[in-house]
Amino acid sequence: MTDKKQFSRLSSKAKNSLIAQMAQRKGGDSTSPARTIKSEALDIPDSLCDFRQLPGYKELMIHQTIANQAGIMEPYFQCHDGLAKDFTKIDGEEYLNFSTYDYLGLNGCERLNKVACDAVNKYGTSASASRLVSGERPPHRRLEKGLAEFYQVEDALAFVSGHATNIWTLAQLLNRNDMVVYDALSHNSIIHGAKISGATRRSFPHNDYDALEKELKKHRAAHKRVIIVSEGVFSMDGDLPDLPRLVELKKRFKCFLMIDEAHSLGVLGKSGRGVAEHFGIDFNDVDIWMGTLSKSLCGCGGYIAGQKALIDYLKYSAPGFVYSVGMSPALAATAAEALQVLVEEPERPARIQELGAFFKAEAERLGLDTGLGEGFAVMPIVVGNSLVAGLLSTAMFRRKINVLPIIYPAVEDSAARLRFFLSYSHSKEQITEALEVVAEELPKVRNLATTFSGETA
Ligand SMILES: Cc1ncc(COP(=O)(O)O)c(C=O)c1O
Repeated sequence: MTDKKQFSRLSSKAKNSLIAQMAQRKGGDSTSPARTIKSEALDIPDSLCDFRQLPGYKELMIHQTIANQAGIMEPYFQCHDGLAKDFTKIDGEEYLNFSTYDYLGLNGCERLNKVACDAVNKYGTSASASRLVSGERPPHRRLEKGLAEFYQVEDALAFVSGHATNIWTLAQLLNRNDMVVYDALSHNSIIHGAKISGATRRSFPHNDYDALEKELKKHRAAHKRVIIVSEGVFSMDGDLPDLPRLVELKKRFKCFLMIDEAHSLGVLGKSGRGVAEHFGIDFNDVDIWMGTLSKSLCGCGGYIAGQKALIDYLKYSAPGFVYSVGMSPALAATAAEALQVLVEEPERPARIQELGAFFKAEAERLGLDTGLGEGFAVMPIVVGNSLVAGLLSTAMFRRKINVLPIIYPAVEDSAARLRFFLSYSHSKEQITEALEVVAEELPKVRNLATTFSGETA
């Protein structure tokens, strides 16, 4: 039985007792009454002014308590002592690390650190204003010109967050006369951007382009502008879209095509130019290139690259850009330099591709389920429910390997998994070692999970 099913089967008394236990563990007290406030709105219950009564908060408390009782160590917010590469230190202990976005192994390298320090010395730590109104510094345009050149498109724009890039680009480009059609496994930021835009939203089953075609046949004509959104490498599953088919459909149905390259920039293609290079597609056949600076480029933020009209429009109007501070100049300078390293050192994407393929082959040799993973920098080991995924991550941690679980609601409960991030700094021996530990621990934690589910049923 899944942990989610276990929650729903608890009596409300048991749930309340769990909530109380959790609150006490956190130093709170959910049994104390909400503060009594003199209010003009007499019919409104006090619980509506009490964060502890938020349904989502209560559910979170139940999840945490059950996880705790099942023996799952809190995997989130672990504080790493320093630079996290193939190894990392947590509380003074060393762990083999498969939980870093640093795909190209550049974070903390001397060249990038020097660029960051020089920028801090020159510009300080903050842009100190929105770029529109006095926050513009030379590294911003250096980064954007580098990205535009990299993608062979007219221009690019850097936002302070990758998540916000998707949100505010979709929200700014679309309105209620329009439609956005996205892959069902799209990242949270794409779904929220689509929601905020007010456009009609439709999702198509993951990588099912016949279904997408049907949607377009049925609904395209009823809308003005339509954006189709997909990802270069899917963030939870590590598989690729069929980009040639997407390009064909977007041309046939006169739509825009937006591709999120968070996990494909620096990873796919001979020179790391991403999913277009992987498939041999002209970069200009994709209308909106989106990506993050937080993975291969060792910074923080996101970008849009494409036609000058698109970039000019967003830079003068997208709320998450206009009404937000400019990216810290040091981060812009660092990401620009990381891009330059990528251009100079194609052996980095080549190595990631080699490691990804090796991971997949090793996992298959050991009888592990890699789900849809195609053998790039993101590789899942699917274990089939959230409880098992949590317990397995705990077991790995005890064996000094840091790899995090992805559980419901980030993925379906039945698709819960460990998600491995591979990096240029990993060796094949480290991958084999980690997978052998997974293969050893998985049957044990499955037994544990079955016992726990039996006891709580
Ligand atoms: C596909 C995808 N898009 C966007 C984002 C958001 O990027 P960031 O974490 O840089 O804000 C992520 C985050 O990992 C992602 O996986």
